[in-house]
Amino acid sequence: MKNRYILAIESSCDETSVAILKNDTELLSNIIASQVESHKRFGGVVPEVASRHHVEVITLCIEDALQEAAIEASDLDAVAVTYGPGLVGALLVGMAAAKAFAWAHGLPLIPVNHMAGHLMAAREVKELTYPLLALLVSGGHTELVYVQKPGDYKIIGETRDDAVGEAYDKVGRVMGLSYPAGREIDQLAHKGQDTYHFPRAMIKEDNLEFSFSGLKSAFINLHHNAQQKGEDLILEDLCASFQAAVMDILMAKTKKALSSYSVKSLVVAGGVAANQGLRERLSQDIQDVEVIIPPLRLCGDNAGMIALAAAIEYEKGHFAKLDLNAKPSLSFEGM
Ligand code: KG4
Ligand code: ZN
Repeated sequence: MKNRYILAIESSCDETSVAILKNDTELLSNIIASQVESHKRFGGVVPEVASRHHVEVITLCIEDALQEAAIEASDLDAVAVTYGPGLVGALLVGMAAAKAFAWAHGLPLIPVNHMAGHLMAAREVKELTYPLLALLVSGGHTELVYVQKPGDYKIIGETRDDAVGEAYDKVGRVMGLSYPAGREIDQLAHKGQDTYHFPRAMIKEDNLEFSFSGLKSAFINLHHNAQQKGEDLILEDLCASFQAAVMDILMAKTKKALSSYSVKSLVVAGGVAANQGLRERLSQDIQDVEVIIPPLRLCGDNAGMIALAAAIEYEKGHFAKLDLNAKPSLSFEGM
């Protein structure tokens, strides 16, 4: 049988990435140009700066991805692109590149939801069996998703306010850590104890909703009060206490979802799935279903995950016209 090759482009936030997928799950290349150093001094992603960086490197990334995969544009069968959710200007750069490339080479265009990409990165670990549940935790999203069959995503619970990654980055900023702070907080947390006992919002409520803004405010208040009084806080314990609260919330809601939906596996994905504390808690707390977490290199934003989700859309025959628009607040329902 002839091999199938998909070129995928991701540019929804601060990573410009291009990947080549062979057949269903073989990633031949996954080039990631991170802009994180440019945004660090601002303490977060500056949308206009992000778009400009994408423009500068997108063509090179496409060339590199083809070269590393050792294939030609003429070998490709489709071009996939993230069309939301994300920063509109950033998305538009990747989409313009994808459309131009698809048009120039006469290839079909596959529209991919960024969060479906995070989830489907798990396909690299093993073949997924359906139905399954997913806990998606990133800088912009925190959601529980029920996937009845490939490509059929339904949000069953999400955050009412901040996303987990966003909370990590905000408290990191208060502690003077550099952006993005998730990884450093995770490392510091492993050296400390949960001594500050932050609130665990909505943990006992009978729903699948999350809330992290109260936790963030409690953290900021504690920090400011201590500063005003000239009291010292123990950084490692602060991080451990924050992380323990986050994990208790994530575990409580995930367990609740697992008790309401009959599934055999749980996928945990998104940038925050890189968290070691989360991985430890999952192995302690979740026994009845198999937990599948993408490898670290596919947890943060990358086009490999977009290609893995695109392969499913390709099978479904889900293609877009060249007038496809960016959808900054795309949800699974609007796909
Ligand atoms: O999925 P992602 O790369 O981008 C979005 O789509 O948002 O997620 C980025 C987020 C950032 O907020 C970052 O602080 C967080 O993931 N993150 C972590 C860890 N590594 C990255 N949060 C907690 N622990 C980590 N080890
Ligand atoms: Zn992401």
